Amino acid sequence: MKVAFLASEMFPYAKTGGLADVAGTLPRFLSRSGLDVRVFVPFYREVREKNLSLRRTVGAAEVDWGGKGVPFSALEHQADGVTVTFIDQAGFFDRDHLYGTAAGDDPDNGERFAFFTRASLETMKALDLPPDIVHGHDWQSATAFAYLRFLYGDDPFFAATRSLFTVHNLAYQGLFDKGILGRVGLPGALFDPDGLEFYGQVSYLKAGILYADAVSTVSPTYSREIQTPEFGFGLDGLLRRRSADLHGILNGVDYHDWNPVTDRLIPARFGPRDLSGKRTCRAELLRMFGLPDVPGSPVVGMVTRLAGQKGLDIVCEALEVMLELGVRVVVLGAGERPIVDFLSAARSRHPSGLGLKVAFDEKVAHMIYAGSDLFLVPSRYEPCGLTQMYALKYGSIPVVRATGGLEDTIREFDPASGSGNGFKFSAPSPGDLLDGLRRAVGQYARKESWRALVRNAMASDFSWTRSAGAYLALYRKLIKPPRA
Ligand code: ADP
Ligand code: GLC
Repeated sequence: MKVAFLASEMFPYAKTGGLADVAGTLPRFLSRSGLDVRVFVPFYREVREKNLSLRRTVGAAEVDWGGKGVPFSALEHQADGVTVTFIDQAGFFDRDHLYGTAAGDDPDNGERFAFFTRASLETMKALDLPPDIVHGHDWQSATAFAYLRFLYGDDPFFAATRSLFTVHNLAYQGLFDKGILGRVGLPGALFDPDGLEFYGQVSYLKAGILYADAVSTVSPTYSREIQTPEFGFGLDGLLRRRSADLHGILNGVDYHDWNPVTDRLIPARFGPRDLSGKRTCRAELLRMFGLPDVPGSPVVGMVTRLAGQKGLDIVCEALEVMLELGVRVVVLGAGERPIVDFLSAARSRHPSGLGLKVAFDEKVAHMIYAGSDLFLVPSRYEPCGLTQMYALKYGSIPVVRATGGLEDTIREFDPASGSGNGFKFSAPSPGDLLDGLRRAVGQYARKESWRALVRNAMASDFSWTRSAGAYLALYRKLIKPPRA
């Protein structure tokens, strides 16, 4: 089975969030099940600067783009049984960022990512590799499904191709002005509420939801939540209409990348049977963030995009009381200016309580998973969330808002039976967050049951093996020949 992944980011080449981790790991597991997986990714400047060993497989091709030809080429890279095909179009992708800068999104993102999907489909044709499945992720890949239907609908090359669209985050919709359709070679008639129109704009996300053969999202709970007005971002009606083709498949982890027993990015290694390395990591983390080591009081870590979704405003509101509980908080994050300002101000008020690093830094992220005792994820919504799964493996106990994939991966610790792997709170409010944190801090003081909790956490298994099987089953269902 030949599967073409389309993703706007992929670890370790370009990453701003969990999509990169999924695109970087799921294909490996699919390929181990015998699938032929090829991932299409834009050739960003940061990819070019990695000086990978690359083979140019398509040179000097052209896409007809609003009446004029735009050239591109395709560069191929092999890694772990997966073929990565980079779409090289310098005008669109040779920039020092993926989507935008502090000033906002790039104004031509609609053209950039539509071009990426068009050129990816053209590359499949140029290489004569008709895919059985086109599996696109998020709005950046969603125009592929509109092209497959309206541009290649009669093309025998794609006649047997079936498609899957995975929504990693419904809030990011790829909204552009009406004129974008003509500029990217899609029929103007799609500007209709039954097509891609969404409150006066064009929604790329709708192209995925409407035109892919099946739609999935990254946890069972989120797949139900997005069919409600509260979590649907205006698309819940459409998603309810597609509910028979809507699947919730939990993301997984590649424990080769995320494992305290082998991790080279942390100062000492450790496993469930010997946690002395974790104590070294904790001391080093506190030193790095200039925070005092207070024996007996837990360190709370956060590794997060600084965006409304992630509930940092709730943390800021709760911070004074949190610190009175005796915890120290360490935050690594990058993102929206107002949240950065908010946290920086809080940091100046509480220099020995709050540690803050505003950056995207893979090594520091590993340090926090390894060195913290508790890991806070107070999201307002969370399609899956990978950070709580990584934290579990490093013995940092998640305290999470019960939503989406957080609901599906964390079970409240029950000291009586010793079952559970973390703490959950229900409302996205300072009061509920503090309740959850108080329960966690209370347990932290009880060494015996805390050890049991850490053992449970580190034994929680979210390896891709199971979820890759679920994708495989879905692909099989999609390509099953119709009954005669
Ligand atoms: P999302 O994709 O919504 O940001 P996930 O939990 O799915 O959330 O994935 C986040 C990924 O990005 C994880 O791999 C996490 O370690 C990483 N990450 C988030 N913020 C940072 C940061 N500031 N520095 C390094 N890694 C980060
Ligand atoms: C999105 C979601 C996150 C999910 C990730 C990977 O960025 O916000 O919850 O884990 O995609 O699917």
